[in-house]
Amino acid sequence: MTKKNKILIIGAKGMLGQVLAKVFSGDKNNEVTAWDKEEIDITDEKQVGKKISKLKPEIIINAAAYNAVDKCEDAKGYEIAKNINGQAPGYLAKIAKKINAILVHYSSDYVFDGEPELPEPTGCGHNCGSCGLHEGFTPQIGFAEYAKPKPINNYGKSKLMGEKEVQKNTKKYYIIRTSKLFGKPAISEGAKKSFFDVMLEAGKKNNGVHPVKYSQGESAKSGFNRVKVIDEETACFTYAPDLAKKTKEIIESKKPFGIYHVVNSEPCTWYEAVLELYQQAKIKTKVIPISAEEFLRPAKRPYYSVLLNTKLNPMRSYKEALREYLKSR
Ligand SMILES: NC(=O)c1ccc[n+]([C@@H]2O[C@H](COP(=O)([O-])OP(=O)(O)OC[C@H]3O[C@@H](n4cnc5c(N)ncnc54)[C@H](OP(=O)(O)O)[C@@H]3O)[C@@H](O)[C@H]2O)c1
Repeated sequence: MTKKNKILIIGAKGMLGQVLAKVFSGDKNNEVTAWDKEEIDITDEKQVGKKISKLKPEIIINAAAYNAVDKCEDAKGYEIAKNINGQAPGYLAKIAKKINAILVHYSSDYVFDGEPELPEPTGCGHNCGSCGLHEGFTPQIGFAEYAKPKPINNYGKSKLMGEKEVQKNTKKYYIIRTSKLFGKPAISEGAKKSFFDVMLEAGKKNNGVHPVKYSQGESAKSGFNRVKVIDEETACFTYAPDLAKKTKEIIESKKPFGIYHVVNSEPCTWYEAVLELYQQAKIKTKVIPISAEEFLRPAKRPYYSVLLNTKLNPMRSYKEALREYLKSR
């Protein structure tokens, strides 16, 4: 009998964790252990060391996190974020190194400030304006894996802290940055709905049948027959099952250790995404574009945080993935 790959998935009741468990255990070559908060508290270094050295997995996949971006702006929320997103990945990295396991950890586009450098064609002196090399050159604007992180909110700072802790404590790591996850909601205690699920609910309530009761960014009581959505903060949506499959591919193809960007293609604003969602779901509710200033939230968001993937085959469009998700609901 061939030896199975021993894989530990942490955060297994989360949106990504659930589907990671499904994807990895669907392969008979793997022996998967799926843990969430009840089985392990990743902020407890001693417990992490003890439980994981006893299990001795060859691969540790950490999908646990604190993702309440706005709550991270108050002192209590930021403390939680620093513990779960910042310090804990370091504990996992230390034990991974000790037992010679590979650590897979997820990070976010929010480690960037939203102001990407404009790329120049190869050979062009910086800021030349328009030398001949610019002809036919279509720059890809966004943040590549090697771009310098500069978070502008506390959540982003905590995720960057986690990246650094992983890199400091082990060499055998994959840090996978992703953005705007969607898919089957988490089943954990602190589960929150993804943006598409929230907007589906809002749109369906207002589907031209009943008086509209919900408007994103306005009081639910105000009874607007429309939803207002921010037409900024361009980034890539990512379908959790696509990310889980790509994670498996990265590990199995033995990609060099380091940072990877895994997102669905076709970046868009929140507003553009809702137009697409309502078209696919045949929802007629009117969608009104607004600026981020009209919908103030405690945490600042990057204006443009497209993650460029320069190392892997590109993933399909989020539109195609969304179609699959809507069918599966
Ligand atoms: N969601 C997004 O849009 C997004 C965007 C960019 C990057 N990411 C990253 O992608 C990864 C997966 O995100 P996700 O949306 O799937 O997260 P999620 O749904 O919030 O799941 C996280 C899981 O971790 C558990 N957890 C929390 N604290 C823990 C602890 N101390 N010990 C053990 N488990 C703990 C949570 O339980 P409770 O719910 O009970 O606390 C939950 O089951 C994370 O690294 C996240 O930062 C997500």
